[in-house]
Amino acid sequence: MQNLPHTQRALVATGPGKLTLALSQPLPAFAPNQVLVKVHAVALNPSDHKFLDLSTVVGAISGADFSGTVAAIGSDCVKPLALGTRVCSCVFGSNSLKPGNGAFAEYVAIRSELCILVPARVSLEVAASMPVALITAAYVVRSLRLPSLPDLGAKAKRMTTDSARGRWVLVNGGATATGTILMQVLSQIGCLPIATCSPRNAALVTKYGARKVFDYASPTCAKDIRAYTKDNLDCVLDCIGSAVTMSMCYQAMGSAGGRYTALEPYSDRIKATRPEVKADWILAWTVYGERVALDGVYERPPILEDFMMCSAWITIIERYLATGKIKPHPVDVNKKGGLGAIEQGLDFMRKGKVSGKKLVYCI
Ligand SMILES: NC(=O)c1ccc[n+]([C@@H]2O[C@H](COP(=O)([O-])OP(=O)(O)OC[C@H]3O[C@@H](n4cnc5c(N)ncnc54)[C@H](OP(=O)(O)O)[C@@H]3O)[C@@H](O)[C@H]2O)c1
Repeated sequence: MQNLPHTQRALVATGPGKLTLALSQPLPAFAPNQVLVKVHAVALNPSDHKFLDLSTVVGAISGADFSGTVAAIGSDCVKPLALGTRVCSCVFGSNSLKPGNGAFAEYVAIRSELCILVPARVSLEVAASMPVALITAAYVVRSLRLPSLPDLGAKAKRMTTDSARGRWVLVNGGATATGTILMQVLSQIGCLPIATCSPRNAALVTKYGARKVFDYASPTCAKDIRAYTKDNLDCVLDCIGSAVTMSMCYQAMGSAGGRYTALEPYSDRIKATRPEVKADWILAWTVYGERVALDGVYERPPILEDFMMCSAWITIIERYLATGKIKPHPVDVNKKGGLGAIEQGLDFMRKGKVSGKKLVYCI
């Protein structure tokens, strides 16, 4: 164990939409199967301000995505990690059940299996931008019943991707942080990603693998997608998940229907318009195999299967990062502002001003 301080600085919720920089928070307790990570950088997610604004837990540390170095190792960790190992991952910040463990802090506790090794080719600043999107990708692939990523390990038996090869998959919101990672995963599986975005992000989205890009603001967007895919689109990820985007996605899908997966709860009213489309939405906060104590449809019991799925997914993903086969979303790194600059970034994101990049802060 490295020499650890007794207290840390952390961003703590003081009321709806309000954070304060607490100067002497206790370090998070870490269980025998967890490591304690000294945080180097954090990245912002829309969930950070949604939790803060809509389900405020006063006194809880905010933040999900982080990167850093292993500072202490529990006695019962499964993944072999050494002190100083560079890792990235995400924690469930603003969590009423674990208010002392959020990413916007100097230390976080995390199960060893959920630590993603950061290869030498990737900086810790860039690594901080990826974990939520990488883990969300595992849920999306499962929800859409697509084959998992082939394991690049030397001895691993390559999985067949025949059911995916040449299949169109629409990523609505191709310029989101989730979208650019998903399009790369889809390409690796053998699918043909197509995407929507603003015209200003068309080149970016193409760079991440979209075979064709559509402007979601165009009144003919759905019709254009349906024509382009010759009425054969049967697989959609909606990274936005509003009634407007769900409606567009439903209209874009072929006559035979298929699978629609959203990152937010879907509308039952729109679902009822096309029974041949199977609608689903995912919630990646079950990754820890622990209860998700949120209101209404967001509440989840502990789901050990999700923890197991993501642990296995991470070992595969690490090889894609190490070989550069999966590249990070563009980042905007704030090296000087530290924890104190994050609230301004959250406000920027809250106002919908973040486009085609991830905001990262060195701590
Ligand atoms: N359920 C889960 O487990 C889970 C996991 C991860 C994320 N999420 C949710 O998924 C959503 C996306 O998260 P993220 O971090 O990937 O997003 P992000 O990177 O913050 O998304 C920003 C992008 O959204 C795009 N966008 C905005 N409105 C759009 C629309 N109507 N159609 C298409 N694109 C639109 C914009 O693209 P342009 O600039 O091109 O306009 C912008 O670049 C958030 O609501 C987040 O909370 C949920």
